[in-house]
Amino acid sequence: MSKTPQKDRSLPFFGVPKLFPYVKQYKKQLLSMVVLGLLGSDVLLPLFQRYAINHYVGEKTLDTLPLFILLYFGCVVFMAVMNYFATFKACCVEVWIDRDLRNLAFDHLQTLSFSYFNQNSVGYIHSRVMSDTQRIGVLFSWSLMDCVWHGTYLIGAVVIMLIVNARLALLVMLVLPLIVLLYSIFQTKLVRVNRRVREINSKITGNFNEGITGARTIKTLAIEDKMDRDFVADTAEMRRTSVRAARLRGLFAVTMSFASSLALAIVLWKGGAIAESEIGTFTMFMSYAQGMMEPVRWIIDAISDLITTQVNIERLTRLLETESDVTDTPEVIERYGDSFKPKRENWEELHGDVEFDDVSFRYPDGEETVLEHFDLKIPFGSNIAIVGETGAGKSTLVNLICRFYEPTEGRVLIDGRDARERSQLWLHSNIGYVLQTPHLFSGTVRENLLYGNPDATQEQIDRALELVSATEVVARLEKGLDSDVGEGGDLLSTGEKQLLSFARAILTDPKILVLDEATSSVDTMTEQKIQSAIETVIRGRTSIVIAHRLSTVQNADRILVVKSGRIVEQGTHRELLALNGYYKELYTRQYEDEATASVLG
Ligand SMILES: Nc1ncnc2c1ncn2[C@@H]1O[C@H](COP(=O)(O)OP(=O)(O)OP(=O)(O)O)[C@@H](O)[C@H]1O
Ligand SMILES: [Mg+2]
Repeated sequence: MSKTPQKDRSLPFFGVPKLFPYVKQYKKQLLSMVVLGLLGSDVLLPLFQRYAINHYVGEKTLDTLPLFILLYFGCVVFMAVMNYFATFKACCVEVWIDRDLRNLAFDHLQTLSFSYFNQNSVGYIHSRVMSDTQRIGVLFSWSLMDCVWHGTYLIGAVVIMLIVNARLALLVMLVLPLIVLLYSIFQTKLVRVNRRVREINSKITGNFNEGITGARTIKTLAIEDKMDRDFVADTAEMRRTSVRAARLRGLFAVTMSFASSLALAIVLWKGGAIAESEIGTFTMFMSYAQGMMEPVRWIIDAISDLITTQVNIERLTRLLETESDVTDTPEVIERYGDSFKPKRENWEELHGDVEFDDVSFRYPDGEETVLEHFDLKIPFGSNIAIVGETGAGKSTLVNLICRFYEPTEGRVLIDGRDARERSQLWLHSNIGYVLQTPHLFSGTVRENLLYGNPDATQEQIDRALELVSATEVVARLEKGLDSDVGEGGDLLSTGEKQLLSFARAILTDPKILVLDEATSSVDTMTEQKIQSAIETVIRGRTSIVIAHRLSTVQNADRILVVKSGRIVEQGTHRELLALNGYYKELYTRQYEDEATASVLG
């Protein structure tokens, strides 16, 4: 796995069997779709035409006409009904496969660890779940149906022509390789040019988006002219490529109609003699000769779809087969259940003792060891603060406590037992984590708070908001608790998002509360209020507070000073100042900075 997904190469049809386990429940649906498609084929119609002309026109009699009309009408109605059901089945198969693969991919993503999301960009994952599944759905429905409908017509036409007049049939079929060749050449070129059009289109869309979202930055950098020139260059390329595509399409249509005329010319030239005795057979040949062109085109399209969809199949199955770096063992799942079917009745109560036992850790794609032989005991109910410079490993410590990652060596113990002996959901259900980068979900403020506890009462919500000083923030919003927060909470400021995610964490009533720079984006006044709230909230819980502003952690039971993945000093604020070491240095520097800032206003 890498941040830039590697190029997918695969044999033309190699990926399809990999999908069988995921689509096997549609065996019956697919079979009935194919059978309905076969029955709905219109390959026999020219035979009716042949009989009608030979018999009623050639022999000038109307003897069996009522029966003929009945049969013909019956046949057409039967075909229409079969095709209706085949189309309906294909629609169903498409949306079912699409839905099931999407659900499967989404469910699987929920089980993957943080490292997967670090290593694969959102855009990459988005395409796997949205467009790959859709293309696979189309492959199993419409591409398959195209092969069935047009394949039946082609094979049926060839067989009937061979039976009726083998020599003429073989002559007409001489055109087939020519059509296949011509179409394959055009198809390759058209696919290439269409892909280019799509690429330029997405580049234009991307630039357009940047032009809008980055409008302020563009103005402050005074690069309007450059942005404009880039955009004009892209649209000019789009025009050139689109014209090329249109020219190719025109040439293609002309060439195909020429090839089709060639087949007709052969029938006229060599079949003229038949026309004298059997005009019906002659017209039947004309119909088949003309009708064979389209099926060839559709079948080649379907085959090329199958080939191009291999990449999508490969990527999607790779996602579905990716195993999480952090997994619960079968024994743990047996006892505690998994994320989707938890066995809460077997869950022990979590007290909140946390211990690092000789832990070494390196991120799965990281180059350096972040922690080395790290030991730490956080007894139940204690209030720990972690401070240290950027990149020291503070978030890494809480990532390990939350088991978002597992130690490369050593153990993290929760209540005295290796965290791996209990399920991730058990642990996560007992942890309230306010992330350094807060995230809210689209929806209202209330909905977001209820993610913390779906059963929370209005009083509990009000109390949580009050504790984190967010009551006023919510009151300022137009519809209060029922205001929409936008995608990812984008309608709110970072500080507001922090407060709400803090309130949400409190509503979960966690045994372990982790605040990773949870108040870094709120003003000093609010921070002070939250500070006193934290003191109320953390009673009876283990709390781990990471903060850059040392003034906010002075009341912690123990402050851990982390440097390059090691605890270099620890103790209470007073003890650490008395040590006259690294903490004192950090504190004095910050104090001076803050004093300077306040003097400068
Ligand atoms: N997902 C990751 N993959 C690889 N390396 C990582 C990853 N996350 C962090 N690191 C590295 O691990 C080290 C510790 O990072 P960490 O996020 O724990 O620092 P931090 O103390 O929380 O810093 P900050 O105060 O900026 O939040 C850094 O050197 C960082 O580059
Ligand atoms: Mg951090």
